[in-house]
This record gives sequence, structure tokens and C-alpha cells, in this order.
Amino acid sequence: MSIMETIKERRSVRTFDGRSIEPQVLQDILGYAREAENPYVQSIEWKILNAKADGVSSAVIVGTDTFIVGKMKRAEHAEEAFGYSFEKVVLYAQSLGIGTTWIGGTMTRAAFEKAAHLGEDEVMPCVSPLGYPAEKMSVRETMMRAGIKADSRLDFSELFFDGSFEKPLTAESAGHIKQALELVRLAPSAVNKQPWRAVVDGSKVHFYEKRSTGYPHDTFI
Ligand SMILES: Cc1cc2nc3c(=O)[nH]c(=O)nc-3n(C[C@H](O)[C@H](O)[C@H](O)COP(=O)(O)O)c2cc1C
Repeated sequence: MSIMETIKERRSVRTFDGRSIEPQVLQDILGYAREAENPYVQSIEWKILNAKADGVSSAVIVGTDTFIVGKMKRAEHAEEAFGYSFEKVVLYAQSLGIGTTWIGGTMTRAAFEKAAHLGEDEVMPCVSPLGYPAEKMSVRETMMRAGIKADSRLDFSELFFDGSFEKPLTAESAGHIKQALELVRLAPSAVNKQPWRAVVDGSKVHFYEKRSTGYPHDTFI
């Protein structure tokens, strides 16, 4: 499956079918994560945690006890570096048929941080469950997705601009960059807020963050 198809097929999975992931598959994901670089060249330490053995949980996740967590040194651009590598791992898991959900808020954060031995100078922005998606979503997950309109995204021209913020960019006029921007549009975001904006400037694309009122920028939920 191509990376484009993988991105299009990914969705957050919060209801799993109870099957455990084979140890060699978990090792494969962990191995991939440890190699997953980011443009800021910041290293991330990855761990697989077990809900029962490590005393961690997420109230929105059912049907799996397995979680992957990443922690790294607090540094300038640590969040972007983490986000880049974490999404690579999410997409790799997806390519193996394994479901994930970025979780920054709805988990027992203190327990996760303790189990990951988080140091004072480290951050652990998000964790994700790993498991085989159930055929049917839980009622809670269905309601949650409807509440945050998880299946929709802002229009192309609300997110992307041509030269300056004054001129929205349409998919039709985006030329060779259209497909890449379409894929950016599908990315996951906390509460599906889609805070990214991009201005296409010749052969460069400048990325910006549009913050939502009521959500401090350093809160991952
Ligand atoms: C940084 C970040 C934090 C998130 N935190 C949570 C969370 O705490 N709980 C949760 O259920 N989903 C969380 N999500 C998942 C989003 O709700 C989800 O990506 C969004 O609604 C779009 O749905 P989709 O991933 O199915 O496309 C988070 C996503 C991101 C990127």
C-alpha cells in the first residue's frame, strides 16, 4: 500500500477487538519507531507499556492493553520533532493493519509518565494504543467522533493560501503541490481543530499554527 493510501485510510481507532499483537510485530513497530527520524534531529525514546502490568489506562480506549509511548528531552521544536516521528509510527502501524489514536489528554497521564520514567527535563506529549480495530465502534467512540466531526476537515482554501493570507488557494490552482496539501489536510489533530495553515510561496511552503481560543498551545488533547 502506498503512503498516500495509508494516510487516506488512517483514522483514530478507540475500539479494538481484544486480540493481542504478536510479540514480533510489536518488536517490528518498536524497531521502526527507534529508527524514525525527524527534521529537527531530536531523538525520542520509545517504550511499549501494558495497561495491567504498568498501571496505565485511557478512558476512551477499549479492547487493547497495549500502548506505545515516546519521550524526549525538552527542547526548542521538541513538539514538532515528536509530532513528525509519532505520525510516522502511526502510519507504519496502519500499514500493518494495526489501529492507533494519538492521545494527549484522555489518559492517566501521571501513571504513563511514571511508567515511562519521565525525567524532569523530558516531555512525553502523546501516547497511542496499539491493537486490531474492532469491526464495530463503541457507542462512546461513535458519539465522540460525531461530537468533534472527526470525519470531516476544513476546506482546502480555508487551510492553504497563495502567496499571502489574503489569497486562499484552491485545490484546482495548487498544481503539483495539490496532492501533498490534500494529505496534510487529512492529518489528525487534537479535538480535530486542524490548527495548520500554509502559505505557498513559489517553490516554498510556509507553515503556521492557528491557535483556537480556549486551548493553550502546549496542551495536547
Ligand atoms: C496532538 C493530538 C492529541 C490528541 N489527543 C486525543 C485524546 O486525548 N483523546 C482522544 O480520544 N483523541 C485524541 N486525539 C485524536 C483526535 O481527536 C483525532 O485525530 C481527530 O478527531 C481526527 O480524527 P481522525 O484521527 O479519526 O482522523 C488527538 C490527536 C492529536 C493529533
